[in-house]
Amino acid sequence: MKAITIDSLGEQSKFKLTEIDQPKPNDDEVLINIKAFSINPMDVAAKLGALNSPFPDNWSFPLVLGWDMSGIIVEVGSNITEYKVGDRVFGELRNDHAGNNGSYAEYCATDTSQLAKIPEKLSFAQAAALPIAGLTAYQAITESLDVQPEQHILIQGGAGGVGSIAVQVAKLRGAHVAATAGPAHIQMLQDLGVDQVINYHDVQPKDVLHDIDGVFDTVGDIEGGLATLRSDGKLITIAAQPTSEQLNGSQHVAFQFTHGTSKMLTELGGLIADGEVKQEVETLPFSAESVNNAQDRVGDRHVTGKLVITL
Ligand SMILES: NC(=O)c1ccc[n+]([C@@H]2O[C@H](COP(=O)([O-])OP(=O)(O)OC[C@H]3O[C@@H](n4cnc5c(N)ncnc54)[C@H](OP(=O)(O)O)[C@@H]3O)[C@@H](O)[C@H]2O)c1
Repeated sequence: MKAITIDSLGEQSKFKLTEIDQPKPNDDEVLINIKAFSINPMDVAAKLGALNSPFPDNWSFPLVLGWDMSGIIVEVGSNITEYKVGDRVFGELRNDHAGNNGSYAEYCATDTSQLAKIPEKLSFAQAAALPIAGLTAYQAITESLDVQPEQHILIQGGAGGVGSIAVQVAKLRGAHVAATAGPAHIQMLQDLGVDQVINYHDVQPKDVLHDIDGVFDTVGDIEGGLATLRSDGKLITIAAQPTSEQLNGSQHVAFQFTHGTSKMLTELGGLIADGEVKQEVETLPFSAESVNNAQDRVGDRHVTGKLVITL
């Protein structure tokens, strides 16, 4: 199969188009003909060698990176009952996927714990944009923060892959939503229904917000978030490790490590299909140049929504 691979980890390493053996599904897995995959900050960290166990445990070179994908099932293991050949599916590969079994390729084999059928109205590109970022946002708003109607919520980094979904899910739950963004993303967040957009280049959130009920930090600014939070409020971060002082204060602080499920993927896919949550997706063709370019842009941390590679 064709795959976009690297021969080593690190800044200098470049992705290239390679021909490698396709992965073989075991009895508990399906084989998917990949139609689209998305690039996450986690992919960039992986390429730089910054991810620890379990992520690199089963890697070998040439290495196929990537976790998010969508495609068509072309083979099912003998223990699989809920999927059949021809199903359109999307999801996230195992954290510790093998070196030839990432999503930057024509095929991947995966168990079905983080897989769901693509709603009819969704394209492969839309579906591939959802798993890691969408589930992270969905879990943060609906479970970790458990946002309630009329609550005041701050989302730091509202225009990114995670933030752009989080602001909309929080609005759907009836919250008053404030979000930070750079000047290029102010209009976008207003169009998504954010009540108060804070240009973090000019204004610190604490200068305009106080007694916030819940903060979702997608940028690693825990102190900035805590400064806006009411004394018994809750802050969930996905982008920095809280210090023991932050963990032991009166405000509730927690790091969310996302554990997506098929059920959550189906719910979120339904919200997109029904038009209740909108996506910002830019597609690029399947080539090493696209992946090198997308990795650089995601690494620069100012992407709008998601970058997706289509096959
Ligand atoms: N713990 C988990 O399970 C988990 C899961 C998924 C992601 N993550 C992490 O969460 C973070 C966000 O992921 P993502 O996919 O949303 O990233 P992304 O798509 O690259 O978005 C990053 C966003 O951050 C904003 N930003 C950059 N610097 C900022 C600053 N100083 N203040 C406020 N906003 C700033 C950018 O907004 P502007 O362009 O408007 O400046 C951009 O929209 C990453 O660090 C990722 O590794 C963790």
